[in-house]
This record gives sequence, structure tokens and C-alpha cells, in this order.
Amino acid sequence: MPVLRAGTRPDTWAVVTGTTAYVVAVESDPATGEARVLQRYWGPRLPGDALAAPLPPAPPRVDSSFFDPRDTAELLPVEGGTRWGVPSLQVTYPGDIRSVEFRYTSARMDGERLTVTLRDDAFGLEADLHVEAVGEVIERWTTLRLDASAPGAVAVGRLDSGNWEIPERDAYRYTGVYGAQLLENQVQRGELPVGETTFTSRSGTTSHRANPWIMIDAGDATEEHGEVWSVALAWSGSWRLTAQHRPEGDLAVTAGFGHDGPRWRLAPGESLETPRVLGLHTTGGFGAASRAWHAYTREHVSPAPREDRPVLYNSWEATAFDVTEEGQLDLARRAGAIGVELFVVDDGWFHRRDSDDRGLGDWWPDRAKFPEGMTRLFDRVRDLGMAAGLWVEPEMVNPDSELYRAHPDWVLHYPGRRRDTLRDQLVLNFAREDVRDWALGWLDRLVGEHRLAFLKWDMNRGFTQAGQPGERSDMLWIEHTRGVYAVLDELRRRHPGLRIESCSGGGGRVDLGILRRADQVWTSDNTDARDRQGIQHGMSHVYPANVMAAWVTDAPNPITMREVPLRYRFHVAMAGVLAVGADVRRWSEEDADEARELVARYKAIRPVVQHGTLHRLTGDPGVTRSALQYTLDDLVVVLAYNPYATGKRGPRRLRLAGLDPDAVYEVVEGDDPLKGARWHGAALMAVGVAVPSWFIVGPDYRSDLVVFRKVPS
Ligand code: GLA
Repeated sequence: MPVLRAGTRPDTWAVVTGTTAYVVAVESDPATGEARVLQRYWGPRLPGDALAAPLPPAPPRVDSSFFDPRDTAELLPVEGGTRWGVPSLQVTYPGDIRSVEFRYTSARMDGERLTVTLRDDAFGLEADLHVEAVGEVIERWTTLRLDASAPGAVAVGRLDSGNWEIPERDAYRYTGVYGAQLLENQVQRGELPVGETTFTSRSGTTSHRANPWIMIDAGDATEEHGEVWSVALAWSGSWRLTAQHRPEGDLAVTAGFGHDGPRWRLAPGESLETPRVLGLHTTGGFGAASRAWHAYTREHVSPAPREDRPVLYNSWEATAFDVTEEGQLDLARRAGAIGVELFVVDDGWFHRRDSDDRGLGDWWPDRAKFPEGMTRLFDRVRDLGMAAGLWVEPEMVNPDSELYRAHPDWVLHYPGRRRDTLRDQLVLNFAREDVRDWALGWLDRLVGEHRLAFLKWDMNRGFTQAGQPGERSDMLWIEHTRGVYAVLDELRRRHPGLRIESCSGGGGRVDLGILRRADQVWTSDNTDARDRQGIQHGMSHVYPANVMAAWVTDAPNPITMREVPLRYRFHVAMAGVLAVGADVRRWSEEDADEARELVARYKAIRPVVQHGTLHRLTGDPGVTRSALQYTLDDLVVVLAYNPYATGKRGPRRLRLAGLDPDAVYEVVEGDDPLKGARWHGAALMAVGVAVPSWFIVGPDYRSDLVVFRKVPS
């Protein structure tokens, strides 16, 4: 039912969700036979009758020899024919011919999926354009196929998953994130200049520098109001997203894997399928867009979304490479005593890994640190009532390792070129089957022998000299990422209880591709609570709280030296998947008691935070007073923050959102004078309440956890 025939022509279809319609039509030029697959509409779902009738036609085009604005509306504008915009598909045919000339061959409506097939006869190239409704999201991707009898191989310079036209509005504004290691997910919002604005990663990973999503509005959307179109790419390797704002006014966003430069060779008989690009139209402002992304991620992306993610302890900031059995056990006892449910040994546990310049690749417990292996440690961890987890970095090797000495050809490299190390490591080529088999072999044994419940899968450098022998060198940009996916998928298949955290020097591999096989992501190596507020704010635009790992670490923070009270650090980390990463051996008894109490509070509100709906209530997180609200059934959890003692600016009343206006809500948890108070939903939303931490005078870093319960009527 989600794919309908739209209008009266046979070659027009509407792919619909509960709230959205996406209308596609094929237009063939009667003179040349060239086909264009056009987006005719993307916005609120129209009533059935309106969709069944022909839509008003597009405005007539200017008969000019200088422009043809139709290509912004194409689902896959190609390089070729009368187009000068951003191509979503660029190929070079034998003889250095670069004009793709597609004609329409067929379309299939298959349940929720529409597939339109185009063909360039002269060179035997076919493209399937797939459109599918998944929840509220329109998923799109492309398959490129070269006939076995084609005259020769083609070189693919760009193969995007799809191009989206943003319907005409008076203005266009974009929202996205930029970042760096230790400061990921910084929101930026601004008018889209006329021209081509590209966000990209050239590092072989998703990267810290940008994240593969964009939101576009007409310049009038707020957190609570307005139409927003979002596009996100489900891919964890290099990527490119270009927003093209044409002088004529049109706006289109094309996105796909890869980046400028590499060319993928497609031989006769071969095919290439892109990852999915996701389009989401929402009304209700950026908040509603985020809530829809969260719902989609939980319902259609995450492998085990209904589970509560456990409170974990991670040893990295406490012990770094100084890992010993006794030391880890000491941490485990203390972590268990404050309520931790999963104990994770980070880096430093494997063969000769005393610093970051050696050992990667030799994935067995270091004999000096664990003379009897690690089974005893993990058994004791389990005796303490916790599950066990371990850090690994399977895609990496230190030149100083037994693995590299045995297989120097397994890394990305070009013959005769340098092999540049970063953090003293090189990238193993997961496009190679032997490398994948090796990785799967030791990971499978490691997880099986130690009965591990959790792996933190890290990836600590970008690609350089990204080559492999033979003609398919550039394919590794795609095949490495697919290889990582394949190993993760097979590992999960063999160990259905295993849960995975994706990490890449903090939040360098966070995307809707990895989240199909990673239950959570490490948000940032910056664990400073105040910086984290901004990082988490940006991340929350697309990714839900139950994938966002957040540790409470020591004060002063090892990165920023900032002294933030334990309660504030906890309240910031409670906005995601709470974890502890502090050196708990140095905590006072009072610290441990307070932490135990806060961990227990988190467990009580965890279902609401991890599975509820998020409202980013107000304020500039980490800068002014701000608050987050999570709602699930009759429970409403509010985390309110006030980082600055003397902050005169910012909201002073906390106005809630999304409540039942007629119902009465009681404060079941919160500091005086809130506890026990009862107000109408309407009053909480329109008037707002004064939370203690927002009082205008007081110390830095005050925060509140307030829980409301809807009173049964
Ligand atoms: C990366 C991760 C950290 C930690 C170290 C270990 O930097 O982001 O959390 O695991 O590696 O070397």
C-alpha cells in the first residue's frame, strides 16, 4: 500500500508514509528518448483523492540554451546531456566517453518499494533507482549494473544514493554539525548560499569533522514549529553530501559514499549498490525532526532497541595502558559496589601493549599482565554481578607487532610509496577476505572463550596511501567499510547476546550505517561535562539517547582541567547511556555513596531516557541554563542545568512540552520546594516552573533531576 500509482499517467507513483508523500514520475524526451526520473512532490501526505488526481504541473521552463533547471528535481542526475548541476552519477565509458544517456526501461512496485530501471544501451549500463517507505522515512538507493556483454569496463567517479529536491520556499536554511576530535557535533545553522555547499569525509570513516546529515528549513523553523526536510546517509566510510542552491532558486541535496578523486572500476558483469540515503519530512520544528529520527533509529535501525542499555564501567581514563589483573579487579569491585552492570577493560590488555606504539594486531592477553589469561578476571567480574566487555581495534596494526611482521601486505598501501603511520599504526585492509577471516577468527574466539557480553570496537586513524595491488585499488574505500560491516554482522550472528559500541577516537564513527550493527556509540573522548552538553546536543539532532554513551569521569577533567561537581557530571551523563569512566580507586567514600545513589536514580528513570521522546526544552546547553525532557507513558523526566553562577541571561522558568494539557502532573522526584507539587499539564507548558538549580544566584554547575508523574484521572 505505501507505493501507489499517482495521477492518471502510468509512470507516476507516490511512496507514502503515515505523514509524508514522495511522488516520482518518469519523463522521456519524445525527440531523444532520454529519460529523467523526477521528484514531483515531497512533503505532507496528501489525501488519497489528491494523490490519485494529477498534481498541478511544474512551472514551464524557460527556453534557454544556458540552463535547464530540471536536474535539481531528478532522483539521479547524471553527468551527460543538458545538465550542468551537481551529478549524482558520473561515469567514464570506454573511449573516455562521459555522457550518460539513459532511457526508461521499466518500473516495479513491490510492496513498500518502487524500483525504476534506466538503461544506457550503447554501453550496457543499467541503473535501478530504489525508493522505499520505512516508518516515516523514505529510503533511497541505487544499483548500477554493467552487462556481461558490455564493450568494456567503466570508471565510476560518483555514484550517489540519491538526489532530493527541497520544495520551493522563500528562503533556505541548513542545519548540520561540524566537529573535531574532542569536540564533535557542534551545531551550525545558516542560510544556504547560492552555489554548491559540500560536507564530506575523505578519511575512510564517517569522521569527526562533519556528520552525514543535513536539515533544511525555510528559515522560519524553531525547535517547536515549522517544516523541516532532513537527509541522512547510512554509511560509515568516506562520504559526500552536496547541497546545491541554484541561482534560479531551486535547492537539491545529493549524497552518497566516496569522495572526490577515487574512481571505482566496474567490469562487465559487475554491479555496484550504494548505501541508503534517507529522507524525512516533518512539521513541528527541529524537535519533531529529531524525535522522528529517534523513532526511526529505534524501530528500524538498531539491532536490539528494546533492551535497556546497561550502566557500564570503562577503565581507560583510570588505567590507560597500565592494565593488570589485580588493578582491573580492584576497579571492578568498586564499580560493582556503585551499581555498574557491565565492566569493560579498555586498551592495554593484549600482547606487549604497554603504550600505543606496539601490539595492535596481536590480540591475545598479555602474558606478563595476565599470566593465566583473562578468564579468571572475567569470571570474577561475573561473580561480582556484572557482565564483561573488552576494547578492540580490529582494523589497525602497529608496525611493531607479530601480525605486521608476518603480513606487511595486509595494510592499505601503494607499491613504492610511504606508509605513513598515525598514532604509530597502519590500517588493515578489510576489503581483503584473508584479513576479514583473520579478524573474525580471533574476535569469535575472544568473545566465545571469555563469554564477553560487549565489545568496544575502536578505529583510531584515517586512511592514507589507501591502495591495494591490482586494478581495483580505489574500491577499497567502499569494500573496507563493507568488510567491517560483514565482520560485525557475522560476529553478531555467531554471538546473538553480544552488544557492540562503535568508537573512532571518540565520535568519529557515528552514523545510521554503523548503528545497524552497533548498539551504541562512544560520543567523544572529551568527557568534560560542560563540553559534553554541546556535543550531546548536536548528536541528539539525529541519534537517540539510547545509543549515546556518556561516562562520568574525574574532576578536574583530564582534558579540560575543569572542576565540575559529581552531581552535575552525573546529570549530564544521565542524558544518554550512563557509564562511569573515573578512577574510582581515588574516590572518597562520600563520592562512592553519592555515585551509588545517582546510578540507582538513573536506573529508575532509564526506560524514560532510553526509550522515551526527547524535548530539548530551552537554553544553550553548557552555556546558559538549559533543560532536556524525556517522556514515556505517564512519566516525565527533566534534567535541568545551570553551568554559570552569575548567569543573568537565559530562561528562568522551565516550560515543559508535549504533555496532556488536561491532566494533572505530580512531582514525584525533585528537590524542595518541587517535591509533591501538582500542576496541570497546560500550566506546566504555558507558565512553567522554577527549578531550584535555575535560581539566579548560586554556585557554578547546579543541576536538577525532576520526575513528574501523570496523575490518573
Ligand atoms: C580511543 C578511544 C578511547 C580509548 C583509546 C584507547 O582514543 O576513543 O576511548 O579507547 O582509544 O587507546
